[in-house]
Amino acid sequence: MEALETQGFFEAVYDDVSSETLEELFGPVLKELFGVPLDVKMIMNHSDMPYEAYAPRRPGCNFESLKVDDASSDSSLSNFVALLWPPNGNPHFCEVVGTYIGKIRELETMMRMMVVEALGVEKEWESLEKSVVYELRMTEYDAPENQETMVAMSTHLDINIITILRQQKGQGLEILTKDGKQLFAPPNSFSVIAGESLKAWSNGRVSTPPHRVKMLNNEKRHTIQFRSHFKNGCIIQAPEKLVDQDYPQVYKPYKYPDYVKFLFSKDGWVLNKWAENADTLKAYCGVEGENDGMMKA
Ligand SMILES: [Fe+2]
Repeated sequence: MEALETQGFFEAVYDDVSSETLEELFGPVLKELFGVPLDVKMIMNHSDMPYEAYAPRRPGCNFESLKVDDASSDSSLSNFVALLWPPNGNPHFCEVVGTYIGKIRELETMMRMMVVEALGVEKEWESLEKSVVYELRMTEYDAPENQETMVAMSTHLDINIITILRQQKGQGLEILTKDGKQLFAPPNSFSVIAGESLKAWSNGRVSTPPHRVKMLNNEKRHTIQFRSHFKNGCIIQAPEKLVDQDYPQVYKPYKYPDYVKFLFSKDGWVLNKWAENADTLKAYCGVEGENDGMMKA
């Protein structure tokens, strides 16, 4: 918990995902996924939310990613493969990815429970658990366009509750520590990263680390991000027990999709703010920031 309060991230040592599953997943399974023709992958997109099920490569961003929504539901994974591999789906993909999701969900639950216990709000566990939904995003990076910086994904904050990022073999995930150092996450690791939803729910106790992807070479790179976030209709609000004279309320209650829309309502605004290490959550719903006019952005 101390790591989440001070830095907002740590590496989890977790052996429950077998090396066979990881090798299969980061080998043939992801290769087959990203080998699906572009026009088929584009079928996945059908809403007006940013970063939908399929995020294609675009100028300045030489990576693509695919997301399984409601990832802990078997039917959701089945629907995902039915769209990508009609008419028979892809049982092997479902088996390997489903196994990974099952194990990594247990890890996420452990991490979230640890936070709840450390904050002394165990009574909130049940309602929190009912409010959480998961997504799994698989990303493939190609050689970065900027060969000088080698930055493949610019500095950002995660906006969900907890992200567990698996990178296999090489390095790339780089996290900015509180004392201003860029720290590479180790290869073959599970990085646990706190997001802004957890920061808000914990009334600012948990930190959110700025991070980016910086490639060490031009070889293809794959990562898998398992994320917990609040369901769309849920109001994100710190439990009463975490708000008192010593810890006044930091953020006003808000809904996750409303914040996502706010962040992406101006082209490039949010990335510029994150690059400046600005607190965009505070800009959106900070109790002290309500008169700064940014809520209307
Ligand atoms: Fe991230």
